[in-house]
Amino acid sequence: MRIDKKLKELPLTKSNPYTLESLFGKSDITPMWVADMEFEIAQPIQDALIKRISNSGFGYEYKPESFFKAQKEWYQKKYNLKLIKEQVLYSPSITTTISIIIENFTLENDGIIIQPPVFMEFRDVIRKTNRKIVKNPLKLVEDRHYEIDFEDLKEKAKSDNNKILILCNPHNPVGRVWRKEELEKIITICKENNLILISDEIHKDIILFDNHFTSVLHYNNRFENIVVCTSEAKTFNLCGISDSMAIIPNEKLRNTIASNFKKYNLGRTNALTAVALETAYNSGNPWLQNLIKTIEKNVNSIKEVLKDSKIKLIQPEGTYQVWLDFRGIYNNTKEMFSNLTEVTGVGMNAGHWYGREGALFMRMNIATTNEKVIDSIIKIKKAVINKELSK
Ligand SMILES: Cc1ncc(COP(=O)(O)O)c(C=O)c1O
Repeated sequence: MRIDKKLKELPLTKSNPYTLESLFGKSDITPMWVADMEFEIAQPIQDALIKRISNSGFGYEYKPESFFKAQKEWYQKKYNLKLIKEQVLYSPSITTTISIIIENFTLENDGIIIQPPVFMEFRDVIRKTNRKIVKNPLKLVEDRHYEIDFEDLKEKAKSDNNKILILCNPHNPVGRVWRKEELEKIITICKENNLILISDEIHKDIILFDNHFTSVLHYNNRFENIVVCTSEAKTFNLCGISDSMAIIPNEKLRNTIASNFKKYNLGRTNALTAVALETAYNSGNPWLQNLIKTIEKNVNSIKEVLKDSKIKLIQPEGTYQVWLDFRGIYNNTKEMFSNLTEVTGVGMNAGHWYGREGALFMRMNIATTNEKVIDSIIKIKKAVINKELSK
């Protein structure tokens, strides 16, 4: 994978000095936090974008049939899903879609179930829409593997006050890719309790080792109230130009959501998104396979460095993040965060940003070179050794 040569000159959120200063207390940080990649985008996508912009203008555009054809083939080939154009709505971001669904189908103070530690914007969106966050925390089994607490989920789902479950599959930050048996149980619980299931599948294309991703769309014949929020922005490092999709097979649900999308004019397209994605669907797979191999290599390197360390790696099944367990080393999150940040200069996401269930964990973004990953994890390991020696 070629590294993005403009990393230092681009105004990227992950290296914004003001953001770094406010989050990490200094701007001289090796940023391994925000979930985007340090790799150049695939060559065919670069070529297509250059071709699109040279000697051209940007009038209002629509997504052409060739886009839908490429997209349909991608979902069919990769996920055995028959994407029906009419069932797909577009919005600028997944969080926009989730806000709208919450506002459409629930009232203030209704409960929305999430499974922390989880992508913090779920919590933020629930708060901002004045709904209630209902937690169904994941269970950490034998200190190394996260599972859904189905008994607790059943209880939470039973309450008439709770209306929506937001599932994250693959799960950010713990890296689980939910298996068919798990998805079936979720579907059953949602159906029995008349919940709407929002499945955020944005990380679906980065599946590691021998794991296998299944979309909840495969259960659409058993349960109708499903909205899949997804995009290929993460997959192809296009977060800065890509929009997102809401796939909604249920017509009634879709029409309600569509009317709100129309109200805010969300479906408006962006010429660069369309070109980049169509090319990605048609020609991006070799780059993606190479990316997955690179991420797997990075995971294995971390495992190797940490094999005799008190820091534990939660083996990721998907995503390009790793979830590191520092519970045996630090007593409180502040001490952990400041010690690791100050000593190593590596900027990671603190686990408690994903809910208190993530306390004393850190999420590290490993979509970068193997050298950088090894260098950073060695620094972290050394910081922990020194901290232990100073006890
Ligand atoms: C699970 C999950 N959903 C959504 C997003 C962001 O998507 P969007 O930018 O479309 O809101 C992220 C980004 O990290 C994510 O991890």
